[in-house]
Amino acid sequence: MAKNRIICTKNNVDYLTIRKAMTAGARTIEDLTKQANVCTECEGCKSELEKILSSVCGCKEVSLKTVVNAVKNGADTVEKVGEVTGAGTGIDEETGEECGKCKSLIQNIIDLGR
Ligand code: FES
Repeated sequence: MAKNRIICTKNNVDYLTIRKAMTAGARTIEDLTKQANVCTECEGCKSELEKILSSVCGCKEVSLKTVVNAVKNGADTVEKVGEVTGAGTGIDEETGEECGKCKSLIQNIIDLGR
């Protein structure tokens, strides 16, 4: 599971803010400039944002593309996406309990179909 950290140092935007924007439908760097206030002036920040945007589940290393394909192939609940891709089924290493931090993003992908 990814720990929170500052991604856009100029505007002081952290990882969790970016993930919240994704859960609200942000899928591109342009979306993140509007929804999370990242500035995108640094190349390093841009490449990090692209990595974050392309990933859904850090625990199971499942990409956005994999989840979108699962949804397009009929996985219409978070549980079904988890069965097909593993996304959302990670275990928190510190607590030993289900992580589930990406489940709201998975639901948003199901809702939007992208
Ligand atoms: S990020 Fe932990 S289960 Fe997906």
